Amino acid sequence: MRIAAILLFAAAAGRAETGYDAWLRYTPRAATVPAAIATIGNSPVLDSARAELVRGLRGITGRTLRIESSIPAEPAIILGTLANLQQLNLSATLATDAYWIKSVGSNIVITAQNDRGVLYGTFALLRKIQLGESLDNLDDRQTPRSPLRWVNQWDNLDGTIERGYGGRSIFWDNLRARDDLHRVSDYGRLLASLGINGCSINNVNANPKLLTPELIAQAARIADAFRPWGVQVALSIDFGSPQSVGGLDTFDPLDPRVIAWWNSKVDELYRAIPDLAGFVLKADSEGRVGPSTYGRTHADAANVVARALKPHHGTIFYRGFVYDHHMDWNNPKNDRARAAYDNFKPLDGKFDDNVIIQIKNGPIDFQVREPVSPLFGALPKTNEAIELQVTQEYFGQSRHTVFLVPMWKETLDAIKSPLAAFAGVANIGLDDNWTGNHLSQANLYGYGRLAWNPDLTASQIVEEWTKQTFGDDARVVNTIAQIQLTSWRTYENYTGPLGLQTLTDITGNHYGVNVEASERNGWGQWHRADSQGVGMDRTVATGTGYTGQYAPPIARMYESAETTPDDLLLFFHHVPYTHVLHNGKTVIQQIYDLHYQGAEQVEQYIRDWTLLHGYMDDQRFLAVLEQLDYQAVQADVWRDAVNTWFQSASGIKDAAARPDLHRMEAESMELEGYTPVAVTPPEDASGGKAITCPVQKCSAAASITAPAGVYTIRIQYFDQNTGASHFRAFLNNQPLADWTALDRLPSAKLDSTTSTRLSILGIALKPGDRIRIEGSPDAREPAALDYVELIPNK
Ligand code: GCU
Repeated sequence: MRIAAILLFAAAAGRAETGYDAWLRYTPRAATVPAAIATIGNSPVLDSARAELVRGLRGITGRTLRIESSIPAEPAIILGTLANLQQLNLSATLATDAYWIKSVGSNIVITAQNDRGVLYGTFALLRKIQLGESLDNLDDRQTPRSPLRWVNQWDNLDGTIERGYGGRSIFWDNLRARDDLHRVSDYGRLLASLGINGCSINNVNANPKLLTPELIAQAARIADAFRPWGVQVALSIDFGSPQSVGGLDTFDPLDPRVIAWWNSKVDELYRAIPDLAGFVLKADSEGRVGPSTYGRTHADAANVVARALKPHHGTIFYRGFVYDHHMDWNNPKNDRARAAYDNFKPLDGKFDDNVIIQIKNGPIDFQVREPVSPLFGALPKTNEAIELQVTQEYFGQSRHTVFLVPMWKETLDAIKSPLAAFAGVANIGLDDNWTGNHLSQANLYGYGRLAWNPDLTASQIVEEWTKQTFGDDARVVNTIAQIQLTSWRTYENYTGPLGLQTLTDITGNHYGVNVEASERNGWGQWHRADSQGVGMDRTVATGTGYTGQYAPPIARMYESAETTPDDLLLFFHHVPYTHVLHNGKTVIQQIYDLHYQGAEQVEQYIRDWTLLHGYMDDQRFLAVLEQLDYQAVQADVWRDAVNTWFQSASGIKDAAARPDLHRMEAESMELEGYTPVAVTPPEDASGGKAITCPVQKCSAAASITAPAGVYTIRIQYFDQNTGASHFRAFLNNQPLADWTALDRLPSAKLDSTTSTRLSILGIALKPGDRIRIEGSPDAREPAALDYVELIPNK
């Protein structure tokens, strides 16, 4: 936290806004629209459309639409399917869910082939108005590229969310659907505004209990809450269910008793949820049971369920994320990246037509940069869905701003084969603003917009989102767009650039830095860095042969280090640290430089964001400022940890001159009570050490040697989730700051995850001044300190 700046802004606190309305805020603006609305036809989805239009236009124009049940003589907004609007003689062929917004005389007609399309058209009209687009001579027909556009919730039935960073589940609590499901209905509204038509409501690591009668009834309540918004519920299932729930002694997909069990279970489900969209199935992956138990194939597994769904028009999304997480890391030919293709390519043509293979964007697992999965386009006789992770598991877990649309765009632009469906692992929970970080809402928005139309550009999407969410002042739009559009690159720069993958603690929380966590284990995220070089050789000539899974022109490009883009060099090739990149720098120097650049970019975001004070409500302004401020600290932690690790691995020093930060290691200060401790991994703390307080109160002091001047004093400390230690800082015995370590950082350890900082701005210092920090531990949190640093004012 930056004490002076944040307090200054907080003092001016005014308007408050939680962010709950996301991009559907409908704030006042000039708009000329008819005064009446006529809805022709009757259904809960049409009721939602009408209610949304009334609500939206009341917010925007301050007027309440007059509601008509037939087309009035005066101008109106007319809602109805083509079949219900025959009197208007509109002729069009529209696909399911497509919509058509058309000016007819002074009326605005929103029509579609189905009610859901009318709802989507309604949101589209409201979006146009919010974006200030002209409503003259409307004639806008939009068809979704893929018929199935789903979100996957990784929500557990106990209310926790696997990889969820926006609070607890809005669906489940304590093995039941929540009593109050109004958040589900509000979420349905957000999803409908983007054209999302399906939602799987439980973790892919599925609890088989969901298929018991008690929980089916609970799932049906969730389906009821979503239904008026046209969102159909789907369930994640466990392949062992015939045994664990059904009481059979087998779950062999070819056993007639298993076939009969799936058929009758699916019938039972459709009695409770008549519009069930289908299932998601993770089998034979990361400890989930699957067809391999009986020597059967993924096609056998998918088809047994698909055939049960078929009479009900249900679909099974069968996950392509299948790999062996006990792979022998000693064998240089082993390669997790190969797994999806190796598993599914031989089965092309063997899947029923209501099976969709759900493929993650890259071959590993949502890392900061991966090439496109070679499975796209490799299964011409099979339906394929792309799986994108909206929740920021490897992208700073909603504590860092990382807008993922530019990354998704690169993948989508490279996929030439048709996509039967989109699946996005959602990022929402019970937090007031849904996603933990206001700017992370843009990822859900962007996912939905791309699932509807993958040709939209990242700039279009961010601009739309910003205008609707924060208003259309040019400074606001430009600043937020600039931050969002560069944020992926920024994050990549301070985490794992050049195709190294994220370099996070992959056997732990997937958040903090741990370069070696990728190596010497079966999870297969290897980067093969040693004292000589770095990168994973995936070539056909000398490596794992992975490049051979691509179509020939792409395979040729990746086969040679010369033609592989620098961004992916180390994903495909093992090179010496002194290998020269296309920009003329060595790999090692580029690693150092990019980490400095990434950290500096986040500092720039703070400066830019600060200028938006007064241009939005203070609540969101301050929340984002604090979040960016924390991100800047973490970016420094990442920079220092990764650079330290590579310096010690390579033995090659950073050749660039870096600013003198006047860093005083805590372990070198004069300590009373505090004890130096080693931190693991050592690169996670400056100098590899921290100090902890084993008694009630400790202190660390030092005399300043930096030249006289005005400085920001940075105190780097550790904020574990095991207590709320208290700190006080003094300058020449005068109180300077007083704070408590109670952030929600996901670790009990002293490491990069819990390393954080207090910055005290604008302090005049001279040589000999004494800084002293007092720490009082709380519960099992030992008030640990890493260093104090002095940044001269420019
Ligand atoms: C990642 C994630 C897991 C998840 C898995 C999946 O590995 O860390 O939590 O279960 O993906 O997609 O199935």
